[in-house]
Amino acid sequence: VAGKKARKAEITLKFTVEEREDAPAPGTPGDVSTLSSEAIATLRTNEIRIPEGRDLKAALDPAFVEEEQSKVEAVDAPARKEMKVTAWEVEGSIDYNKLVDQFGSTLIDDALLKRIEAATVGKGNVPRLHRFLRRGIFFSHRDMNALLDCVEKGQPMYLYTGRGPSSSSMHLGHLVPFLFTKWLQDAFNAPLVIQMTDDEKFLFKGEYDPETGDNLMHYANLTMENARDIIACGFDHKKTFLFSDLDYVGTMYPNILRICKAVTTNTVNGIFGFDGSANIGKIAFPAIQAAPSFASSFPVVLDSPVPREAKALCLIPCAIDQDPYFRMTRDVAHKIVGKDHGLGGKPALIHSKFFPPLQGAEGKMSSSDENSAIFLTDTPEQIERKIKAHAFSGGQETKKLQEELGANLEVDVSYQWLRFFMEDDEELERIGKEYGSGSGEYWSTGKVKGRLIEVLKELVAEHQERRARITDEEVRKWMEQRSILVKEE
Ligand code: TRP
Repeated sequence: VAGKKARKAEITLKFTVEEREDAPAPGTPGDVSTLSSEAIATLRTNEIRIPEGRDLKAALDPAFVEEEQSKVEAVDAPARKEMKVTAWEVEGSIDYNKLVDQFGSTLIDDALLKRIEAATVGKGNVPRLHRFLRRGIFFSHRDMNALLDCVEKGQPMYLYTGRGPSSSSMHLGHLVPFLFTKWLQDAFNAPLVIQMTDDEKFLFKGEYDPETGDNLMHYANLTMENARDIIACGFDHKKTFLFSDLDYVGTMYPNILRICKAVTTNTVNGIFGFDGSANIGKIAFPAIQAAPSFASSFPVVLDSPVPREAKALCLIPCAIDQDPYFRMTRDVAHKIVGKDHGLGGKPALIHSKFFPPLQGAEGKMSSSDENSAIFLTDTPEQIERKIKAHAFSGGQETKKLQEELGANLEVDVSYQWLRFFMEDDEELERIGKEYGSGSGEYWSTGKVKGRLIEVLKELVAEHQERRARITDEEVRKWMEQRSILVKEE
């Protein structure tokens, strides 16, 4: 039964494109503007897909409806993907409440938002809560309240985030955690360490090739490339240390060993789904991603040479798919940091939702599908073309329908992307209202896409300008081992 239902969900009415140049002329087959709203409701409830160019009125005939339904169920259409979130894969339509339940983290509520606001706005260098907090994009956490308790008492903290450099051009989704981390750095006036896991990508991707050897140096080079995009997000050099695992792992090795000794293969297999066929590097890698959660992994950078006495609290902003690493980390933290740390040595976490791909609200944006993403290297023309051609629309097929029903904002990628990147709350609200009701200036998908294209062209152009100024020599300055502690003024 579940399978049948899942397949039915695939059969959707194609009422999505309005303002199409090739939209059928009034009165010709395929034109829906002549249908009554009752007829349209019938089509919707029956979830009938209307073959292009077919007279829509025929589709209202119950016999046709039945025939079409049986046809679609007969073909072995792939079932709608179940939600799946692991450290490597994100699939299906994501139910974030369920995810928080499964993972055992906590939703960010209004009281916590108020607390974060009170701890930062006016004290640090930020005018207000970041839009990612205002709009529930960073939505889940672990131990944020306990962290704020300690910070209020004057205990030092630092931020830790990272990136697995798997492709030379990063896309818009990759910016999300870094833009937010930049805000946190300003808000808490905090030092920041950024881990580039070139080792992870080497261990998890590609095979040894007898002709070309391996691809280790390829990932090392990607670290340098991606570092430029990360630095271009505007971090403060004095307070930021960016490192490649390939060079820096030695300093973290004592903590990596402590973590390795505290975690069994069974535990890692359980958390990450490895089995006996995984290479031994994969089994050990979680310890390497865990290590920067402890200040004593940075004896020079955070001036914390004595492990159990290293009291700086760690806050990790990341997408929620990285949580499994840090659940493991938190479980062993007491073996690495002394009890008087405040959080039992555990890092605190703040989790984001995923940035949806252009084609629709399932899964997350992926670098391997060129058309599912806007890359930070895209030209203004590419941005415009991809959004016009591929951004999934929650709008209706015709002007008439759009005015009657309005757009479904939940599934509309252009609107969802504006929630991530448009700073102005009032304008966003207005767009939502007008588009959602099919009235006013932003009544249509075309208008909303137009505004999104403007916002993204500007954002990407500014990013490219900043990135172009960052040389390899500049990158090396961010990777130099040096103290990044904020000096008392
Ligand atoms: N595993 C992450 C990735 O593939 C990279 C990473 C390392 C990371 N350390 C982190 C991400 C800390 C968030 C926080 O992109």
